[in-house]
Amino acid sequence: MPPSPSLRPAELRLRDALDAAVGGVSRAALAASVERLIGRYRAGGAADAPILSGSSDVLAYAVYRMPATLAACRNMLQHSVLRLPPIVSVIDMGGGTGAAAWAAIEEWPDARVTVLDQVTDALALGRRLRAAEGGAVDFVPWRAGSAVPEADLVTVSYVLSELAESGREAVVRSALGAARKAVAVVEPGTPSGWQRILAARSVLLNAGWRVVAPCPHQGECPLTGSDWCHFSARVERSALHRQLKGGELGYEDEKFSYVVAVPGDRAAAVDEGAPARVLRHPGKRKGLVELELCRPDGSAGRAVVTKRQGAAYKQARDVRWGDSWPVG
Ligand SMILES: C[S@@+](CC[C@H](N)C(=O)[O-])C[C@H]1O[C@@H](n2cnc3c(N)ncnc32)[C@H](O)[C@@H]1O
Repeated sequence: MPPSPSLRPAELRLRDALDAAVGGVSRAALAASVERLIGRYRAGGAADAPILSGSSDVLAYAVYRMPATLAACRNMLQHSVLRLPPIVSVIDMGGGTGAAAWAAIEEWPDARVTVLDQVTDALALGRRLRAAEGGAVDFVPWRAGSAVPEADLVTVSYVLSELAESGREAVVRSALGAARKAVAVVEPGTPSGWQRILAARSVLLNAGWRVVAPCPHQGECPLTGSDWCHFSARVERSALHRQLKGGELGYEDEKFSYVVAVPGDRAAAVDEGAPARVLRHPGKRKGLVELELCRPDGSAGRAVVTKRQGAAYKQARDVRWGDSWPVG
């Protein structure tokens, strides 16, 4: 069957690489690993020992989670890239099988990316998955607390939830210490994931860095009550994914929260006239579009764009959750 035209190339190539990696591996063993991992990640809480224990867990993680974490990282980078300086090197802390590396190489094909992780099976699989790919990606054993090499951009993707609170702050601080131009942290788009992002954001701001995405301001987050800042990336599901995780839908929507910051003394890289951020799927009704926005003045609230606003209305019809507003 020809691939769905809505799939982006990295996703397609990763799908092929995963299908090849799964090869003759027992589906029952993989499904058991998927079930165990789903239970463990749902339970949450810091991990005393690596959650991914052995090659079956690692392959299961890559099949059922990596396409989604890749989609979240890619979405995050797409929403920040215009506000970042040029990136030629990336360190991915706790990078596992390399989801953020796939996203980074897609954004900056000439960048050198180094994936650091404590699980050597994850690094080995990550290397195998990249074997047919271009781009310079290295997979290097590392444990939180050890030195982190310098790079333009340091990413920390879906890692903080596995660490105790003190460990989370320490990881964000080492990311800050290693990053020359930017730090990007991404977590699941749940209320607790968002709390971890808010804590990371505070560490970044207290170190004098500036947030370039998703927040269009440097102040307190205006979201309160039952609301939390998160975004959504659509992931097409492969036959293998459906087989291992169950469910009939041909896609799933990965919810994620994130923060991207640059050093304060690089204010030149920051567009001072930041546009607002669209915080929800826009509500579309006949002749009007409702946008839930986080604004540069630090407030959040609704904006209504009507047909009378001509060009703005046309843009509002196409704007998506997570985009900047106004467009361009
Ligand atoms: C949920 S996975 C995320 C993997 C990858 N970043 C992604 O987005 O798909 C969490 C990763 O963090 C790594 N990790 C957790 N605690 C760590 C520690 N103390 N030192 C090194 N890596 C750690 C795990 O080994 C695992 O690969």
